Formats: sequence, C-alpha cells, structure tokens
Amino acid sequence: MKIVCTKDYQDLSRKAAMLLSAQIIMKPNAVLGLATGSTPIGLYAHLVEWYQRGDLDFSEVTTINLDEYRGLPRDHAQSYHHYMYTRLFHHINIHPDHIHIPDGAEPDPLRACAAYDVMIQRVGGIDLQLLGIGLDGHIGFNEPGTAFELGTHCVDLTESTLAANQRFFASREEMPKQAYTMGVKTIMQAKKVLMVASGKEKAEIVKKAFFGRVTPQVPASILQMHPDFTLMGDQEALQRIL
Ligand code: PGA
Repeated sequence: MKIVCTKDYQDLSRKAAMLLSAQIIMKPNAVLGLATGSTPIGLYAHLVEWYQRGDLDFSEVTTINLDEYRGLPRDHAQSYHHYMYTRLFHHINIHPDHIHIPDGAEPDPLRACAAYDVMIQRVGGIDLQLLGIGLDGHIGFNEPGTAFELGTHCVDLTESTLAANQRFFASREEMPKQAYTMGVKTIMQAKKVLMVASGKEKAEIVKKAFFGRVTPQVPASILQMHPDFTLMGDQEALQRIL
C-alpha cells in the first residue's frame, strides 16, 4: 500500500487527476474503473480541463463505473449515469460504446449483474480502479458484512446509506432501496486501485480500514491485500495515520 498525502481537497483532486492522466498517456486504450460521490468531482473537472486544453485523449479509453441505483431511469438527476455524463462524459471525446455503467433500469438483477462481469472480462479487466470510501468503510455499494468473494451483485441499501443519500431525493419514498454494485472481488481484480479520501470526517474510517484488521465489517480493509493500492488523501483525512 502506498500513501500519498496532499495539502487539501484541491491538491488531492489535481494529483489524483494526474495519476489517471498518466494511466491514459501510458496506455491510451486503458480501462478505467470510475466512482461517483462528492470526492471525485474536482478530479473529473481537471480531466475535462486537460482534455479541453488538448493534453488528454479519451478516444480509445474504456470506462467501467462501480455502481448504480436499481430502478432509477438513466436521466434521473440522481442517477450515477447522470452524474457521470454531466461531470465527465459529455465534455470529453470518449466513444459512447466504451462507457459502461450498471443498468439501473434493468429490473432483473441476475441479468444486470452477470452481464456486467462478462463485459469486464471481455474488455480485458480494469487497469486502474478509482474509489471513494464511505463513512462505514464501504467501497462502491459494498456495505459492512459484504462477502469478499462477490462479483457484481444487487444490494439492499443499508439504513446508514439511505440516511446519508436521502438529501439528494425529494422524499424517502422516491429513493431507490437497492443498487447494483461491482463486488469486492471485482474491485480486487483491478490491476491498480486508487482511493481518494478528503475531509476530517473520513479520518477515523481511514485509520480503521488501513491500519486495522482486514474484515468484511470494514469492506475497504481488504485493499490492504491488494498488490498495487494507493491511498491518496488530504491532510484532514489522513490526520489519524500520519
Ligand atoms: P463521498 O462518498 O465521496 O461522497 O464521500 C464516498 C463513498 O460513499 O464511496
């Protein structure tokens, strides 16, 4: 495990974007595993800026997103499709056929998830997987207690995740109660993993996940076993481990 400490959120966003850019420069047809959430927003803004400046070319890049709410139409303002298109895909020259996000509109979980794992194999696996970390140690929608050997699957959102994400929806009723997510096994199969963490609220879970026991109760802790894992956090997020 490598740990990179950045000054603040802006510095984190720029340096994480540099690592993704380096991957694309070294391998123009790279397969990038992408994440949503608030932490990667600055990073995606940098990628768009550098593309628009002519420094990056996404024409051969493939992207595979971690997760999506089950039952939300793609164009719903809170879908992860919408997040990815508005923050990144609409602004770069990625080929539409190279973009993969679990299909939240597919009602059959088996079909949605098995097809996703087959697709990941077909494109040759993920070169670099970007991750955030939840306050409870989740990665993707893999919540505490998740089996490490699962591939892409359907999950019931936990009370803590429903509570954390409810602010994005008009009411609790409108909020999806399930999601499709890459499993821990899928994530661990990525050749490289980059986690971004920002803010003092993440300090405790970062310490628990990477300096505590490897346990399904803290899904991110399994990354201690990954052969090429980088934790990049700002000073606030890393304050308990520096
Ligand atoms: P955040 O989410 O980036 O909004 O903190 C991280 C996560 O829940 O994976």
